[in-house]
Amino acid sequence: MKKEQLMELLNSMSLKEKVFQLVQIPGQYFLSGIADTGTKTDNSLTGEELALIGSTLGIYGLETTAEIQKRHMEEHPHHIPLLFMHDVVHGLRTAFPIPLALGAAFSPDLVKMCTSAAADESAASGLHVTFAPMLDLVRDPRWGRVMESFGEDPFLNAMLGRASVEGFRGGNGETPEKWRVASCIKHFAAYGAAEAGRDYTGADMSSRILRECYLPAYIEGVRAGADMVMSSFNAIDGVPATGNEKLLKETLRDAWNFDGVLISDWDSVGELVKRGVCSDLREAARLALNCGIDIDMCSFAYARHLEALVREGEVAKEQVDRAAFRVLELKNRLGLFEDPFRGATSTVERKKILSTANRALARKAVCECSVLLKNAGEQPLLPLASESKVAFTGPYVESKELHSAWAVSTDPEDTVSIREAAEELALSQGRSFIFAEGCTMTCREDLGPKSEERMVKYYREDTIPMQSVTTDVNMLKEAVAAAENADTVVVCLGEHRLMSGEGASRGELTLPKQQLELLKSLHSANKNIVSVIFTGRPLDLREVCELSRSVLLVWMPGTEGGNGILDLLIGAAEPGGRLSMSFPYCVGQVPVYYNHFNTGRPKPKNTKVPYYVSAYIDIPNSPLFPFGYGLSYTSFSVSGIKLSAEKTALQDSGSFGEIKAFASVKNTGLRRGQTLIQLYVSRPFAEALAPVKELKAFRKLALDPGEEKMIEFTIGNEELGHMGSDGKMHVVKGEYRIAIGLDSETEEWISLKIV
Ligand code: GLC
Repeated sequence: MKKEQLMELLNSMSLKEKVFQLVQIPGQYFLSGIADTGTKTDNSLTGEELALIGSTLGIYGLETTAEIQKRHMEEHPHHIPLLFMHDVVHGLRTAFPIPLALGAAFSPDLVKMCTSAAADESAASGLHVTFAPMLDLVRDPRWGRVMESFGEDPFLNAMLGRASVEGFRGGNGETPEKWRVASCIKHFAAYGAAEAGRDYTGADMSSRILRECYLPAYIEGVRAGADMVMSSFNAIDGVPATGNEKLLKETLRDAWNFDGVLISDWDSVGELVKRGVCSDLREAARLALNCGIDIDMCSFAYARHLEALVREGEVAKEQVDRAAFRVLELKNRLGLFEDPFRGATSTVERKKILSTANRALARKAVCECSVLLKNAGEQPLLPLASESKVAFTGPYVESKELHSAWAVSTDPEDTVSIREAAEELALSQGRSFIFAEGCTMTCREDLGPKSEERMVKYYREDTIPMQSVTTDVNMLKEAVAAAENADTVVVCLGEHRLMSGEGASRGELTLPKQQLELLKSLHSANKNIVSVIFTGRPLDLREVCELSRSVLLVWMPGTEGGNGILDLLIGAAEPGGRLSMSFPYCVGQVPVYYNHFNTGRPKPKNTKVPYYVSAYIDIPNSPLFPFGYGLSYTSFSVSGIKLSAEKTALQDSGSFGEIKAFASVKNTGLRRGQTLIQLYVSRPFAEALAPVKELKAFRKLALDPGEEKMIEFTIGNEELGHMGSDGKMHVVKGEYRIAIGLDSETEEWISLKIV
């Protein structure tokens, strides 16, 4: 529809009809029993009101959405189509590795392919908008939603945020443009800085930290063309984001020129009352709309009060018109006025859902996201020798729950378990494996309050015991016997998928106790232990590493988890991941992240800790595994770092002549392999302290055994600049240092002077 026609439509609508375009309700109002992802609501709607609703969430599947859409358009006075939105966080039916895992792949291309595939499945299922990507920077693994993020680095977050938005909106190139879905970046802003690592708390910080660390990914998402932004539950500067005019109007709308749809999070308008910012829902509706919130998700504040607020002059009619027009524009951009079903047919849906291509991509992604944390000894256990007699143990051997708590539209029955993949491999290679779980994965106590509600919805009651279980003696005996009769024991351990995600913050970061008991027993029976770790967050893996010769981190790998993991274990692929987030020595270190500020009393390296320096008296300062860390099945060296010039003049324009950085990379091992070369910059003081180092570029490189290659990076304003209070990148004169290495603990620095 042309803009003029859209404006005519808006002008033909009554105030009530415009207001209800700004109301989003849970899908169960249109049907019962679907995935709702927030607090229960007790609001009822008349039939006439239901017919005016602008959008809903949590419904997918073409048969269902088409039937609802047809009925809705018949009942709406202007036949305005409904928007169907859903949390397609890491895939719809084909679950890809979780975003924290995709962050570890350090590959914008992979992220773009996975989000494009998710967009295809979503559009074919009648969805129009995904509440993704989540671009919250996260430095606290206690926070359950760390699994939805790309990790602790602003540069990587921004790069993958752009790739996600482009992937969701642009399709994967093989399909018509119409198959895209609108992308909604969230949670604006800084929800990942939740105090004490708990959901829904405050996230107070200096405006500079907000600007330099937490905002860059959202800005990049907006620049990439995100259609929507979602306001967050937390407060910034003591004001909840959903009612924060400085954040939503001055920053998002005015400074960033975002004119897309701004949606609240679930009932976050209503929470303005619960947090004492507003005296009642009517005042919350007024504040939220005046801050620029276009759609009220599930609080019913707009449905109940917005019309009266306009009639009584407390909210300008133009505000409602502007918000309603943004919603109509989004529907128009998606082509819904011409074709509310967007060409989707059940035939196309069947073709796209869990397609062979999507499964192959998901399997490849498992390999690129998994991180090899340890592979010790003269004869490392990985990749497994083809003649090795292998016992697969641990509660994740049989599990098909390899996706996250957010993959509410993924059916575990579609997932390939480790056992299924291993048995298929055994058949194809004429091998035999032993399987013995050894213990249950977790128990209701580990899952906390989620266990009841989530269990009812997604699990048979009998899969997870109610009480904290002592180890089941028979299960343990069987696993120990399997270990005694094997050359190598693969132990598949991890958090249950409901131990991370929304509302799943943890105070501890260790594995469930019965799993550690199992690992100890297996280690007593056989020292050749390969631990495969499933998790939605960085964990305290000290004990796992002590008891294992090899440790492979597979995060929550998704639908093709079993196949991808077997590809890695037998060496058909190598773990391509590098940590997107630091793994702490223990929870007492949290928050621990690589791009911290320096101190006037640094702890001396590798010497006994003197008093009166920045150090703990009982644990190390460094994480167990640092950001950017990961091993290959071969080994690499980086040397000969040099610059095209060690000094260059800063021009009046604020920029300087391009500098090249070089390093020589060599495969020092016995098999071909790939590594990730990372370039870090250390900036001089400018307006404020700079982090001790910041990732500014990275490059994957595959080399044959003994092969050596020179690689080159370009250094310009983006690499040396800092985000000033004017929101622009500035370079100052002074001494910069450049390091090129294989993880964030590299100390191979070279100096660059800007004069
Ligand atoms: C939830 C989440 C948000 C999600 C929304 C809709 O509370 O905070 O990420 O998109 O509700 O499900």
